[in-house]
Amino acid sequence: MTADRRNLLKGLAALTGAGVIAACNGKAQQTPASFAPLKNSVPYPIGFCGMSVNFNDPQWTDLGTRHFTRFVSEWEQKMEYILQEDGSLQLDRALAQANFARAHGMTMHGHTLVWYAQDGEYFQKLANRPEAFLTAYADYIAGVMKPFRGICDGWDVVNEPILDNGSGLRDCLWRKVLGDDYIGLAFEAARQADPNTVLFLNDYNLEYYPAKRRRFLQLCEHLLKTGAPLTGVATQTHVAVDVEKGAIRDTIRDLGALGLKVYVSEIDISLRTDKPLMGKDGRKEQLRVLEEIVTAYDELRPEQKHGITFWGLRDKDSWLNRDKGLRLSKDEPLLFDDKGDAKPMAQALTQLWA
Ligand code: G3I
Repeated sequence: MTADRRNLLKGLAALTGAGVIAACNGKAQQTPASFAPLKNSVPYPIGFCGMSVNFNDPQWTDLGTRHFTRFVSEWEQKMEYILQEDGSLQLDRALAQANFARAHGMTMHGHTLVWYAQDGEYFQKLANRPEAFLTAYADYIAGVMKPFRGICDGWDVVNEPILDNGSGLRDCLWRKVLGDDYIGLAFEAARQADPNTVLFLNDYNLEYYPAKRRRFLQLCEHLLKTGAPLTGVATQTHVAVDVEKGAIRDTIRDLGALGLKVYVSEIDISLRTDKPLMGKDGRKEQLRVLEEIVTAYDELRPEQKHGITFWGLRDKDSWLNRDKGLRLSKDEPLLFDDKGDAKPMAQALTQLWA
């Protein structure tokens, strides 16, 4: 990305501060038909997440397939949906999503195999039999991954292993039964299951908590040193507009220094902040944050750019607007508004590579 494009984006950001959101291509929002596909301008895979119920909405499918080159299952490729009490695997929805992706020339990113937040009764019952547990653990990883060979070009093998305070690994059933090396064991099972896909360690708040980022990087170095087939690192980037300037850049740079694939895996830029923005315009700050993500990502070596994924398509699809009961106002964290019109963030994204 050239410097003048970066300045152009800064200009856009400045204009939106004066409420001149229309600076982006002359309209505050661009209707679906008039807005050129993002995938034609972004020079690496750009993804969005969704779920089966979205497929009943033609506007959603049209918008997603028009602009993106990668699909991520928001929850139906996770243990909470797949693993049955008897250990059988319910892959129907994730396979249908893979067919959707394939039918539209898209890849899929596998999300996610091992997560502290989900373990399931089947594994809980095996907790006192470590050998059987380990066999079931490896079988689960293989059973989920193998049907997606050739469509999932990357997998979040282990999700969110580090405590937010950066003091170490989260406690979870996997660690309780298999020890700290539940992570290395997962990566080895994943490599057996699919020799050709990129294997990621994925976490969040790496930009907010430097200590957590340091501990994440230490874990990556330990995995590499002990021969685990870690080939990618992912920073989720669920951020708000008051995220500290430079924190995302530092995170992407630190992850890039490992020399592995880098994936910005779950972008949303929330307008909700813990403290008032002191006169700043939230939507202008969204452009600033998006520019920081894209500019930092652009500095990586081409072979490291696995891509970026937005955690949803339209604002109304966002998980941040799902537990409304807990929220005072509707959030607008994504690229497209509820009507599917391109917001200034989407337009700014295109401007960068126009
Ligand atoms: O759609 C069903 C509905 O039919 C059913 O009645 C209801 C009650 O069982 O569940 C609904 O599915 C829920 C689904 O979201 C859709 O709303 C699942 O229970 C619920 O667990 C699922 O939550 C997902 C969550 O991860 C846990 O899997 C969110 O959609 C998803 O946005 C969130 O994504 C996570 C990433 O995986 C990891 N990083 C953080 C990110 C946000 O929390």
